[in-house]
Amino acid sequence: MVTLHSLLRWLVLLSAVGALIGYGRALASSRLDDLATRLGSVYTMVLGVQFLAGLVLWLVQSRWNGDDVFRSFIHPALMIIAIGTASAGTARARRTGSAMIGLVAVVVSLVIIVFAIPSGAWPL
Ligand code: HEM
Repeated sequence: MVTLHSLLRWLVLLSAVGALIGYGRALASSRLDDLATRLGSVYTMVLGVQFLAGLVLWLVQSRWNGDDVFRSFIHPALMIIAIGTASAGTARARRTGSAMIGLVAVVVSLVIIVFAIPSGAWPL
């Protein structure tokens, strides 16, 4: 499970790049098209899968014992905030047709994710 959660980081990164390109293109053409909306949804979907993989890992490794406070609590809490930001932002972008909201949501969630990655896991 460590491997799955660890490997999925690449998919998170790849889907984030896709969403950034999608919203960036949409912003340049002043039109939120289907492609940008789909790429935004793929990003939040991958984050959802990563959340589940992390949750299983957390439960299997009895992380609530708090031996490593960062991996046990800070990492999961920040990642949940990042996932919430990405999901709320991309949904709002879809509703309002604003590529800017989608772009800002993806950038903010990515910044949180970078800060929340355990230091021992760098370089990626
Ligand atoms: C966007 C969401 C997430 C990303 C990108 C992410 C990414 C990562 C990365 C890169 C590592 C280091 C893996 C390694 O050292 O090889 C890690 C470790 C870990 N993550 Fe996540 N994570 C996310 C969400 C979560 C969530 C929501 C939980 C728990 C509910 C969680 C629980 C853990 C645990 C317990 C570890 C430590 C694993 C170990 O060292 O044995 N993660 N995560």
